[in-house]
Amino acid sequence: MYRTVTCGELRIADVNKEVVLAGWVQRIRKMGGMTFIDLRDRYGITQLAFEQGNESQTALFEQAGKLGREYVVQATGVVKERYSKNDQLSTGDIEIEVTKLVVLNPAIVPPFTIEDETDGGDDIRMKYRYLDLRRSVVRRNLELRHRMAFEVRSYLDKHGFLEVETPVLVNSTPEGARDFVVPSRMNPGQFYALPQSPQTLKQLLMVSGFDRYFQIVKCFRDEDLRADRQPEFTQIDCEMSFVEQEDILQMFEGMTRHLFKTIKGINLPALPRMSWHDAMKYYGSDKPDTRFDMRFVELMDVLKGYGFSVFDNAAYIGGICAKGAAVYTRKQIDQLTDFVRRPQIGAKGLVYARIEADGTVRSSVDKFYTQDQLAALKNAMSAEPGDLILILSGDDADKTRKQLSELRLEMGSQLGLRDKNKYSCLWVVDFPMYEWSDEEQRLMAMHHPFTSPKPEDIPLLDTDPAKVRANAYDMVINGVEVGGGSIRIHDAKLQEKVFEILGFTPEQAQTKFGFLMNAFKYGAPPHGGLAYGLDRFVSLFAGLDSIRDCIAFPKNNQGRDVMLGAPGVIDQVQLDELQLKVEKKN
Ligand code: AMO
Repeated sequence: MYRTVTCGELRIADVNKEVVLAGWVQRIRKMGGMTFIDLRDRYGITQLAFEQGNESQTALFEQAGKLGREYVVQATGVVKERYSKNDQLSTGDIEIEVTKLVVLNPAIVPPFTIEDETDGGDDIRMKYRYLDLRRSVVRRNLELRHRMAFEVRSYLDKHGFLEVETPVLVNSTPEGARDFVVPSRMNPGQFYALPQSPQTLKQLLMVSGFDRYFQIVKCFRDEDLRADRQPEFTQIDCEMSFVEQEDILQMFEGMTRHLFKTIKGINLPALPRMSWHDAMKYYGSDKPDTRFDMRFVELMDVLKGYGFSVFDNAAYIGGICAKGAAVYTRKQIDQLTDFVRRPQIGAKGLVYARIEADGTVRSSVDKFYTQDQLAALKNAMSAEPGDLILILSGDDADKTRKQLSELRLEMGSQLGLRDKNKYSCLWVVDFPMYEWSDEEQRLMAMHHPFTSPKPEDIPLLDTDPAKVRANAYDMVINGVEVGGGSIRIHDAKLQEKVFEILGFTPEQAQTKFGFLMNAFKYGAPPHGGLAYGLDRFVSLFAGLDSIRDCIAFPKNNQGRDVMLGAPGVIDQVQLDELQLKVEKKN
């Protein structure tokens, strides 16, 4: 037997027990006639003690002195109460007086210290990710991920969902990103695509009568990467038959509540619902961070027409009221101006107004407005003495709202209103069916082309498709879209019409989605579903800044796995078999 106990379980009640432990040497401290070793495994750290005493002890003492960091060792000994206890450690009351030490495997010096506080930068830790994963801070995220996936399965199983695996080598699935493709050796010149989601397959399972399906499944999207995006990520993918939107929202609100309760010990209140329209109007975002208020107030009526040309020519003027921020210095406000002017945000400038202690308003555009007009601004913003009003304007209302949204989030952060331990969840509902793409010069599906329009908006498909609302919904937590889905079209005719509006000819639609439209002719039940991003959900629960930290082996921002060296070149033999030609770059 390699061990009788783990490094995380011994307590004061175990004193005098003889035990065998195995693990990695995290740290060696030599203090005169004593050597202490922190032995680490997945469960914790236990201190081993070696004393330079009599002859047999001296041999052990010398053996311990020769160990190096990350050696794999087995230690036999007796549990003793410590003289100086460590209340930071669950095993901090005891240590092991070692009687036998076996080196199971030596280790070369690791490239960074494997402790909670490490000296390793991002790149080196990614290259040696298997070492980074030894650190308890990283390991804990994967433990959390496991527990969340487990609770998801438990909840869905209890509600009659079946987990069904769908293939990874499929055809292109339209979720709006680029596909990763895999050449087929047996079908030269042809390619599989990796699924961006199992969307069409889960709909086919509904046609098959599976009724309640789920799958915790890898999805692949070749898109620009950000902190909350990975090229391969995991969805909790779900679909139900004979349901309306309300049934789905209830079922998955229940799942979310179950996760908050079992994992975080939080009783979640009923989730508020916000229309997409209101989310855009009040927060400039379809994923508003509702941990704090600071809603937009439209100020066209209040500020337009007084001779300040920037506002007079604007298509939108909107403000936010930052409570208690009138103390901001000129320098801080200049920094905010620089922030909104950054190319990623693209605002031209920022107008501010401070509410002084006596209620007067001091603004950066004082010369254009009387104190009465500024008082009207104060009223419109419900601002009080000590508050700071920040105003953006622009000739494109949607773009300006997005800029104001960034400013709102920045102010929320600066004022400490985005506490990672506080959760604010909501459903955003009534998404539009389509959005205009400047790039493609056509309407695109906002969710995906299988999403059902709201029945009352179906007539608009012929007259004003841009106005059609969808039976689509997103779950948003702390400004992160954790999940989204829709009621699907189950009528082949309506599906054809939606494809037509998206610019597919009947032939193109048949080639791409014929399998689905034909299936619908054999009795498709009304159905709908949604998918959560598991990585995003876990990172919210763990309070992480990037989903990378809850993925065992993530990719970097260039989509590379620097540990495996992927993607990489392949042999000419392989290329020939696949009948692929690759132009060599110099
Ligand atoms: P959607 O495209 O909204 O819907 O994706 C569902 C959820 O998956 C997560 N997600 C991602 N997470 C990490 N990295 C990515 N690159 C990434 N892309 C998406 C998000 C998102 O909310 N088939 C539909 C679902 C449905 O209609 O049932 C779909 O895939 O958390």
